[in-house]
Amino acid sequence: MPAITEQKILEALKNVMDPDLKKDLVSLNMIKDIRIGKNHTISFSVELTTPACPMKDHFRSACTAAIREHLPEAGEITVNLPAKVTSGRSCGGHEEKHNPLPNVKNIIAVGSGKGGVGKSTVAVNLAVSLAKTGAKVGLIDADLYGPSIPTMFGLENKRPEVLNKTIIPIEKYGVKLMSIGFLIESDNPVIWRGPMASSAIKQFITDVAWGDLDYLIFDLPPGTGDIQLTLVQMLPISGAVIVTTPQDVALADVAKAVTMFRKVNVPLLGLIENMSYYLLPDGAKDYIFGKGGGEKFAKAQGITLLGSVPIGSTIREGGDSGKPIVIESPESEAADAINSAACEVARQISIRNAAACALQPGQ
Ligand SMILES: Nc1ncnc2c1ncn2[C@@H]1O[C@H](COP(=O)(O)OP(=O)(O)OP(=O)(O)O)[C@@H](O)[C@H]1O
Ligand SMILES: [Mg+2]
Repeated sequence: MPAITEQKILEALKNVMDPDLKKDLVSLNMIKDIRIGKNHTISFSVELTTPACPMKDHFRSACTAAIREHLPEAGEITVNLPAKVTSGRSCGGHEEKHNPLPNVKNIIAVGSGKGGVGKSTVAVNLAVSLAKTGAKVGLIDADLYGPSIPTMFGLENKRPEVLNKTIIPIEKYGVKLMSIGFLIESDNPVIWRGPMASSAIKQFITDVAWGDLDYLIFDLPPGTGDIQLTLVQMLPISGAVIVTTPQDVALADVAKAVTMFRKVNVPLLGLIENMSYYLLPDGAKDYIFGKGGGEKFAKAQGITLLGSVPIGSTIREGGDSGKPIVIESPESEAADAINSAACEVARQISIRNAAACALQPGQ
């Protein structure tokens, strides 16, 4: 029987494409740690650009099939799928000026022009969902006027530790958290003036021990004001996720948020339509706020529809009781919808990072 070599394995795997990056896995340098054992057993790793990769199963079966086809003498094949999250900034090129968070690979802003559409619910569940896949995730409640993260994580009376003038973020469900709600009494409303709000947000960035993170998510307040501007001026935002409900009135406001992000050159990762439909007991979908509003809007704006999340009392109860739906009912349709939106967010980031690092075809 002809000997199996590392070279032959790589040649076989050159036939497997990454559908997003449109190049083969070998050229993308994703194949690592090839081992050839007794009886022609083969094992290797496909290093993914995010643990939230929706294509894990695809890669595993495509790699196995390619080896079976090109090296029929192969014995047992083991495909490992570790992940190393990429960053658009990690590939050299232009030197970053004053990035206060060099150890954070990707910064995601979750926003909307409109209040009450479910930004915080979506941001919280996205963060927990990404953390569940194994990513290192942080979440900043940038809503100084109406912080909701402490309640949504069941951490109302928690106070963070301070070590050497650095605030240690509170961690729950695998997510590192910071909110003004951890620093003030909840019945003591804060009257922030613009500059004060900006400086509080700056402190969340510079005075908190975030450590190494794959994804840092900002839950933005509604609208297009000082806090949003401070963030884009201070940080290299990887992209914005826009949240809306399907009704035209919500969409009209959301258009303003899209315009704002475009004006300040923050890439738009896409749109999540929240409260899209109500799931009837027989499994049918009742589009109580109209069908397809988000999709039409995304198309008109030229942005990706990242997902559609149903309306349901378990989502609201999860928010009120401090147990996000992806923790409380991980098998539910709503949790599925969030998980798939989270994968889509991670995927869009990976695609953009690859483009920024010139890993596109022909490079
Ligand atoms: N898909 C959903 N199904 C049911 N209830 C939801 C859903 N999404 C959000 N909610 C509820 O709607 C209310 C508003 O949601 P949330 O606080 O996430 O919105 P927001 O856009 O962050 O609001 P704000 O503009 O005040 O920051 C909350 O009570 C939340 O539990
Ligand atoms: Mg909110």
